[in-house]
Amino acid sequence: MLDQSQLQEMGLEVLLVNHPLVQHKLTLMRDKSQSSTQFRALLREISWLLCFEVTRDLPLTEKPVETPVEATTAPVLSGKKLVFISILRAGNGMLDGMLDVIPSARVGHVGLYRDAKTLEAVEYYYKVPAQMEERLVIVVDPMLATANSAIAAVSRLKEGGARNMRFVCLISAPEGVRAFNEAHPDVSIVTAAVDDKLNEKGYIVPGLGDAGDRIFGTK
Ligand code: PRP
Ligand code: URA
Repeated sequence: MLDQSQLQEMGLEVLLVNHPLVQHKLTLMRDKSQSSTQFRALLREISWLLCFEVTRDLPLTEKPVETPVEATTAPVLSGKKLVFISILRAGNGMLDGMLDVIPSARVGHVGLYRDAKTLEAVEYYYKVPAQMEERLVIVVDPMLATANSAIAAVSRLKEGGARNMRFVCLISAPEGVRAFNEAHPDVSIVTAAVDDKLNEKGYIVPGLGDAGDRIFGTK
């Protein structure tokens, strides 16, 4: 697994969240003996922590408030409600945790699967909230492997009007980070780990296997 200085040397633009709790929980998730129940719970908990990182610089505005002691002004989030976009299906495992932290967020879904032979992303569903151009859009998917899925989802969202986007994942491959940086240099990536490489089947090594199967118990 790569650290932030190695990523810099390789010219990869990505924010690595190396908080000890994130790293600890991620190691538990990698363990193939975890049940789907535990895997889902850990993904939800890590998503809380990743949500803090990806929203760290959200703009605030002052609002009047009357406390039991006196009237004052205090900060609240400004602008239109942000949108979480879940890349189906595995994105839903992160969405739950994101919504725990920001329950008022809007939600959209982009349905994509990887063709097992070509590794190209195939779209089967698209539904997003109105006024995408005025909202911060946070796209979630646990895995960034070849990045074909993330690149396709972000391209589709741009066609649909999104202008201000961030991408959050759990584990990425260096090949995927590079491809995503080249395709969408305006969209930042937040990740809990950048692993060593992709294998010949496009799986992240060491990774955690197929995220969707592990979340939903479909293997
Ligand atoms: C997984 C994962 C990503 C994609 C990553 O989804 O959740 O969406 O693969 O691979 P890529 O970077 O090479 O495109 P999958 O296609 O297995 O679908 P699923 O979520 O329905 O299981
Ligand atoms: N999708 C996954 O779920 N896992 C990988 O390692 C690669 C793509």
